Amino acid sequence: MKVHPITDHIYALHADIRSDDLFEGIWPIPYGVSLNSYLVKGEKIALLDLVRDWVGAPVELKNQLASVGVALEDIDYVILNHLEPDHTGWLGEFLKINQKALVLATAKGVELVKNFYFEHERVRVVKDGETLDLGSGQVLKFFETPNVHWPETMMTWSESGGVLFSCDGFGAFGALGERVFDDEISEDEHDFFEAESLRYYANIIASFGTFVKRAIDKLSALPIKVVAPSHGIIWRAHPETIIQRYLRYAGYLEGKREKEIAIVWGSMYGNTERGLKHVIEGIEEEKVSYTIHRVPNENVSFVLADVYKSEGVVIAMPTYEYKMFPPMAYVLDIFERKHVVQRKVLRIGSYGWVGGAKKEYEAKMAALKWDSLESVEWAGAPTQEIAEILRERGRELARRVKGA
Ligand code: FEO
Repeated sequence: MKVHPITDHIYALHADIRSDDLFEGIWPIPYGVSLNSYLVKGEKIALLDLVRDWVGAPVELKNQLASVGVALEDIDYVILNHLEPDHTGWLGEFLKINQKALVLATAKGVELVKNFYFEHERVRVVKDGETLDLGSGQVLKFFETPNVHWPETMMTWSESGGVLFSCDGFGAFGALGERVFDDEISEDEHDFFEAESLRYYANIIASFGTFVKRAIDKLSALPIKVVAPSHGIIWRAHPETIIQRYLRYAGYLEGKREKEIAIVWGSMYGNTERGLKHVIEGIEEEKVSYTIHRVPNENVSFVLADVYKSEGVVIAMPTYEYKMFPPMAYVLDIFERKHVVQRKVLRIGSYGWVGGAKKEYEAKMAALKWDSLESVEWAGAPTQEIAEILRERGRELARRVKGA
């Protein structure tokens, strides 16, 4: 990978991670993910955000620094906007190689440096609004932006470059290759990264929408020319695009969702699937767009992205040993953890001997504060009568979504 200059003094470095390993040990990255770091060269040299030792990322970082004449030993400051180990996992090794660098983080970040990496001496707290003068006109300013994505998070601002180093904020899944700026990629690639930014947001940031809005409010007076996150595209042509996108995502938590329906289904022998077809007919009659995911065949990471943005949800699952279909129980648990609350929902499903999913499902609905239409359960295969009820419920859900 090449180094990409952002200004005469600021450079973007990145390692593309392509691995079957899961991000955070949970989320698949079939299209990879980038770990972006940034170099700011004044008379002193600062490196913003590190990498973890993952698929050769430290070697990539070292080689890219060398390509602009900087050895690891030359770095004076390591600025850690966020302490999650995807950005800091290699810190201990780095500090062994470099004997002089000072680590800068928020007060909460410094505690994590001590706890994760046992570094107590070469670490200093930076306060909200504090500046660091690197010389040659390169002044960095620190803004605490808690919970984007952990409590210790901050963002760093380069006044001279108009660059906001936002770490997880404004990030996306997806490897970058050699083109890293928003004006270097095609419309199709933008569509791809939009999907991967929604999935990233829904998987990683979703629980913290209120804090995303707070951070954007706090930084709104800055004349931002470049948004430089530590995952995904660097936005220099249209930084407002990713800021507005993140505001839209944060709005999903508050009810400003897409008038779409996310269908999540599982079926043991095809009877729930047969019933679902009639619900879909009803939705299509009302011309409401929908996405559809089968569980457990599709990973919850992708399911979560579509459910997160949608006002309406269909949960189609059979009863399994008197309770919910286990893969769906897992998905609903993830929805609860990610605050996917207050959707308009229809549940349908087939059972063999006796129902039972209903009771467990309703307990889950209460936790999610979902507004449920009357569920439809049937024994065995759906009859003509059940088919008509399912079609009407599909229409009704679609009408409610349109009216939201
Ligand atoms: Fe990219 Fe929350 O770490």
